[in-house]
Amino acid sequence: MGKLDGKIAVITGGSTGMGLATAKLFVLEGAQVVITGRDQGALDVAVRDIGKGVQPFCGDISKLADLDALRAFVEHRYGRLDVLFANAGGAKPGMFEDVSDEDFDFTVGTNFKGTFFSVQRLISLMSTGGSIILNTSIQGVRGTAGLSVYSATKAALRSLARSLTAEYGSRGIRINAMAPGYIDTDIMRKTGLSEEMIREMNVQAIDHTPLGRKGTGHDIAKTVLFLASDDSEFITGVELTVDGGWAQV
Ligand SMILES: NC(=O)c1ccc[n+]([C@@H]2O[C@H](COP(=O)([O-])OP(=O)(O)OC[C@H]3O[C@@H](n4cnc5c(N)ncnc54)[C@H](OP(=O)(O)O)[C@@H]3O)[C@@H](O)[C@H]2O)c1
Repeated sequence: MGKLDGKIAVITGGSTGMGLATAKLFVLEGAQVVITGRDQGALDVAVRDIGKGVQPFCGDISKLADLDALRAFVEHRYGRLDVLFANAGGAKPGMFEDVSDEDFDFTVGTNFKGTFFSVQRLISLMSTGGSIILNTSIQGVRGTAGLSVYSATKAALRSLARSLTAEYGSRGIRINAMAPGYIDTDIMRKTGLSEEMIREMNVQAIDHTPLGRKGTGHDIAKTVLFLASDDSEFITGVELTVDGGWAQV
């Protein structure tokens, strides 16, 4: 028996990285999963990789019309939603005085506004027992040069988990945050950092991590499964950190 047998799940940003790893585990545990992303080609590759039990939905979480279309897709196809992993995110790193209006709007529009409205548009499809997991970051509680906007968006999402817990507890819907440390995905490359900078960040991250390695998508997937399933049925409003101890010491 799977931990998510019969459940309907949406994973925003499920085409690559930790979203894809989580989609694979959710399907193995019996869920039917909708994965989203902006690149149809990447979604198609992910669907082939996962196999049965997964549906792609192409859309941008920073666009409300796309979120309305996602809601309509889920409602029409499944009639309800049990689990939402609000995972899609990105960044345009830059030192404070170099952050442009455009860079600011990109990161806030995706990570905070996009995640806020992903949850807002989908939550009314959930009933008692629903679980929402917001992908935050240990950067939300750390200070890192060049990440002022990104880190603030993740701190805002941690706050959102608390506010929604207060609003939705009486409806039996749980909202938790999951804060990854340094996880082996392609996100750094997508932000435009050079290979040399990425190598340097790898060394620094591993050096600062008591468990002595980068995290994997599967490390994240197992934690999200815990928060999505009944194993965590009395847990809501927390931020669960998955960082090999980095932000704890
Ligand atoms: N990797 C880390 O070390 C780390 C640490 C802490 C937190 N995080 C967080 O983890 C989450 C997942 O990142 P990842 O590391 O797995 O990176 P990733 O492999 O780049 O995955 C990002 C996913 O989000 C999608 N996405 C990005 N912007 C989107 C948008 N506007 N609308 C819809 N989908 C969008 C991407 O697909 P498309 O590009 O095709 O849209 C992709 O599926 C992010 O929220 C990130 O901030 C990562």
